[in-house]
Amino acid sequence: MLEGKHIILGVTAGIAAYKSTLLVREFVRAGAHVQVVMTPAAAQFVTPLTFATLSRREVILDMFPPPDQPATQWTKHIELALWGDAMVIAPATANTIAKIVCGMADNFLTSLVLALRCPLLVAPSMDVDMYRNDVTQQNIARLRERGITVIEPEAGELASGLVGPGRLPEPPAIVDAVRDVLAGVRSDLQDRRILVTAGPTHEPIDPVRFIGNRSSGKMGFALAAAAARRGATVTLIAGPVVLPTPPRVRRIDVVTAREMHDAVLREFDGTEVLIMAAAVADFAPSSVAAEKIKREKVAGGIWTIDCVTNPDILRSLGERKTHQIMIGFALETSDELAHARQKLTGKRLDLIVMNNPKVPGAGFGSDTNVVTLLSADGAAVEIPRKAKADVANDILDRVVRLLGASV
Ligand code: CTP
Repeated sequence: MLEGKHIILGVTAGIAAYKSTLLVREFVRAGAHVQVVMTPAAAQFVTPLTFATLSRREVILDMFPPPDQPATQWTKHIELALWGDAMVIAPATANTIAKIVCGMADNFLTSLVLALRCPLLVAPSMDVDMYRNDVTQQNIARLRERGITVIEPEAGELASGLVGPGRLPEPPAIVDAVRDVLAGVRSDLQDRRILVTAGPTHEPIDPVRFIGNRSSGKMGFALAAAAARRGATVTLIAGPVVLPTPPRVRRIDVVTAREMHDAVLREFDGTEVLIMAAAVADFAPSSVAAEKIKREKVAGGIWTIDCVTNPDILRSLGERKTHQIMIGFALETSDELAHARQKLTGKRLDLIVMNNPKVPGAGFGSDTNVVTLLSADGAAVEIPRKAKADVANDILDRVVRLLGASV
């Protein structure tokens, strides 16, 4: 979605400007061309040189060219307004937000915003009291009324030491918000209750060892994040992974398949859509050793672990489902379509997302995926290599349709 796109990154004078440097890198890594525009005061926080180096483009700060440059250059804000596919202001200070609301054009960035033809996203970031101030809240509401996408700040410890909302979200969350806007994604899952599982499960052998798999949890987390951005009420049941919880997602951490099974079961009745993206371990040691198993206790150099099969979470819920829409994943390395179809019908699923980890750009750990969506009516749609955030939106488009059909 971002490949070859023209992104204008507006940086205003907040301490979070340091995070915007990482944002430039994320955009560039996704294949976008980035033009950084700063307010003069933003240069107090991060130098234009840093942004110019990362974006490989001259940073624009001043409305008027220096005396040694041609005077005709001053209409650059108009040219740039036509160049952009999307503009995101991150961080956006209370001051710049207020100016945008009033239609002021007193520096290059605010002039550009007035001339803009492409979608605008604004990520407010400031201290908690400035953010909570009635004027700021009214201004943010007015941005929304005008169709500007507001990327809400996160709550937490702020640079001042105060705690509350005002923190700029991490760069990947901002990049995903831009992806959504470019893809024309809307809040079409408002208040829908979606349950997502993600990551591997770990089945303990002894206090330090386990049976597990290579799942990173990225696909499931991308699904939970995208569903929340589209307005859903999302619960994410996560196996042991090291990923941050996406904004506005309720997270339940589990370790074993049995724990995941119990957690899913507790949530299932109040759920409208279940997406099982977790790579649940199929086998667990039949008993867990109380102490670490010693190498010298293993006879003849061969250690055998007796395993039992874990509950098949999707299968048991397929038998129990009433109104729920159920989506599974299939990781296949041979005879892919046939095996995936078997799982679709055997587990009474509405959709199965099949991926083959051998295809370049697919599978565990990668930021991209290559999948085929198989529906209950037999249709198979191949989705070419895309960022997991974009694959997540494709799957959620199906969810929207399935929810529409089930009303
Ligand atoms: N799944 C599950 N419970 C399990 C194993 C898998 O709910 N114990 C879910 C996964 O989350 C996934 C789907 O079932 O959505 C398919 O998982 P997969 O491991 O590919 O299928 P299995 O039925 O375990 O078949 P196999 O491992 O033999 O391919």
